Amino acid sequence: MAIRLGDTAPDFEQNSTAGIINFHDWIGDGWAVLFSHPKNFTPVCTTELGTVARIKGEFDKRNTKVLGLSVDPLEAHENWIADIEETQGVSMNFPLLADSDRKVADLYGMIHPNASDTMTVRSVFIIGPDKKVKLMLTYPASTGRDFNEIVRTLDSLQLTAEYKVATPANWNDGDDCIVLPSVSNEDAASLFPKGVTEIKPYLRTTPQPNR
Ligand code: BEZ
Repeated sequence: MAIRLGDTAPDFEQNSTAGIINFHDWIGDGWAVLFSHPKNFTPVCTTELGTVARIKGEFDKRNTKVLGLSVDPLEAHENWIADIEETQGVSMNFPLLADSDRKVADLYGMIHPNASDTMTVRSVFIIGPDKKVKLMLTYPASTGRDFNEIVRTLDSLQLTAEYKVATPANWNDGDDCIVLPSVSNEDAASLFPKGVTEIKPYLRTTPQPNR
């Protein structure tokens, strides 16, 4: 059955460039980003993995582990990593699952047969410390992802997990937030001491509470 937001992320054991990964244990108490790329030795994927390696510090700051996946064998990953490091000017600093038996790709519905029978689409799953799926994205093979957007969504997810706010369109860390409609004006006044602006009764903003 398809995975939906709020589901427990399927657990698995699979081999990777960092050895066997038991997914839930590997996540530990933090957050995780699991993302698939279609195929090794392909140009867009090469730039994606280089980009993730380059900004991995942003994930670390957010207590978030990153894990790549393709349905290629471990030996192919090891050979391709040398190319990624050479062409992208980075050192690969996160593991890639070698999912040649498609165990994880099938569990997470990463193969979309009407797009390709043999390659995974560009899936992203963000998983919280409770091991629940918090966000899913799906891109086609021809469109490389914007990993800054994934960092931005992590900021929103981690903020909204702690405070009774939501984040508006194009929000970035530090911008004003939206007070949840379920919060009364009276409670909002005490929950958000920096102030609440009422634009409409259902549209109230407050400065980002953890800034
Ligand atoms: C790529 O990463 O460049 C790619 C992979 C599969 C199909 C098309 C492009």
